[in-house]
Amino acid sequence: MTTDPTSRYDQTRMPFLESLIDEKLNQSTSFHMPGHKGTKAPHPLLQEFFGGNLHPADLVEINHNVDYLHSPKGALLKAQQLGAAAYGADHTFYLINGSTVGNMAAVMSTVGPQQKIIMSRASHRSVYGAVVLSSAIPVYIEPEYHPDIEFPLALNVNKIKELLQQHSDVAAIHITSPNYYGVMSDTASICHMAHAHGVAVLVDEAHGSHLCFHGDLPRSAVALRADIIVQSTHKTQGSLTQSAMLHVNDNGFVNRARIAQVLSLLQSSSPSSILLASSDATRMQMATEGQQRLSTVIVLSQNARNTIQRMNGLWCYGDELIGVNHVFTYDPTKLIIRVSDLGISGFQVSSLLRNQYNIEVEFADLKHIICSITIADTESTVNKLLDALHHLTSTNSPTTNSNEMSIRPPSGLPQSAINLRDAYFSTKTHTIPLCDAIGRVLAENVIPYPPGIPLLVPGEIMEQRHLDYIHHLIEKGSSIVGMEDLSLKTIRIVDV
Ligand SMILES: Cc1ncc(COP(=O)(O)O)c(C=O)c1O
Repeated sequence: MTTDPTSRYDQTRMPFLESLIDEKLNQSTSFHMPGHKGTKAPHPLLQEFFGGNLHPADLVEINHNVDYLHSPKGALLKAQQLGAAAYGADHTFYLINGSTVGNMAAVMSTVGPQQKIIMSRASHRSVYGAVVLSSAIPVYIEPEYHPDIEFPLALNVNKIKELLQQHSDVAAIHITSPNYYGVMSDTASICHMAHAHGVAVLVDEAHGSHLCFHGDLPRSAVALRADIIVQSTHKTQGSLTQSAMLHVNDNGFVNRARIAQVLSLLQSSSPSSILLASSDATRMQMATEGQQRLSTVIVLSQNARNTIQRMNGLWCYGDELIGVNHVFTYDPTKLIIRVSDLGISGFQVSSLLRNQYNIEVEFADLKHIICSITIADTESTVNKLLDALHHLTSTNSPTTNSNEMSIRPPSGLPQSAINLRDAYFSTKTHTIPLCDAIGRVLAENVIPYPPGIPLLVPGEIMEQRHLDYIHHLIEKGSSIVGMEDLSLKTIRIVDV
């Protein structure tokens, strides 16, 4: 990374943040938005919470010096260029609505109405949202179910090949790698194959922005020359929640100007400078110190993994994941800790850690808790987790009844009666008791959360196996989102 002060790619600079500091010093008298006009918070409690600095820093493009997200020409343009150089892309867009908007823009800028997109069935809801908005036709690919983790983890490249041969009119492939568990598919082969078919590869790398900055981590899809790569820098680096990046590689399959247009369509016309400044600073931090800080993260994670593997009744997955059911590799900074051998569910351990040890995990499922180690962690934070787990194993003995935790999600794709968009916008719908929905076409999503992957989407038919699975998840403490009735007793169906 360049740190030469004479270079336009000097990564020690933070052009956008620096421009805000200059503007703040100006202290102009404002007759424009925002209504707070940079004065202190409207309530002392908010003032106390933010430390009094947030409102004065909430500068907008009307301020003379502040560059505008939707037509960057100055400091923000430079910041994005530094972003592209740091992450290794041909172009980078900073985002203010997370990877959610990144996924939507990736799909909407490459796949037109009635064009096909091959997408993982285990995609984040934002990808389904993109399909609704774009009128694209999804061709689903189911990731391979991992027998032990009991979750569909990685994509079978040969299945993608078959789909590409069956559907010669596909406009793009959308994949998620790493997924919620840090498990990665063979993105390089997917890119190679897709590009040979003239098809763009869009990668949801929401959980992988750190991969760009250390040679011992799996390679980011940016380096593997995927066409659009979306990263939640707020998830695994230091930027503020909602900030994210969309990277573009100009391989001839996507149109950068079109992406800019779609982002302008989807994102607020009043972008938060605070979020953008946090992206600028995070890029600087990762470009200048990322390698060194991630070395520490890798050591902390590996030590934690080794220690947990020695704890009676716990297991933390590592290299044994590779090669099983098409898992290409995994992100070592995510700890997938199996707790079910202790006879308690991941959900129970997650609340136990919260209530007894003041520890919040990234998420839990029936059998696991998932913990994320980042550059913000230290030996002390990781030891806190290890101490708590150690205590947990000393008060709970391994049991042979852990199978009670198991329930396999229904395999095979649900039957679709109407396309997703038509079902989503259908006006001929009514609400019925959930248990009467078997054989009916849904008008709303059913999404077990976490990790937020739809079990059923609008237009699909609910079967007994889906209902059984929903009941089981609810009984075990999982949440279901996407349904209008938060009590989960009724569901809206399409009248067909
Ligand atoms: C795989 C995946 N993609 C996209 C998103 C959306 O990211 P964001 O919260 O930055 O909008 C998430 C959020 O959890 C995610 O897990």
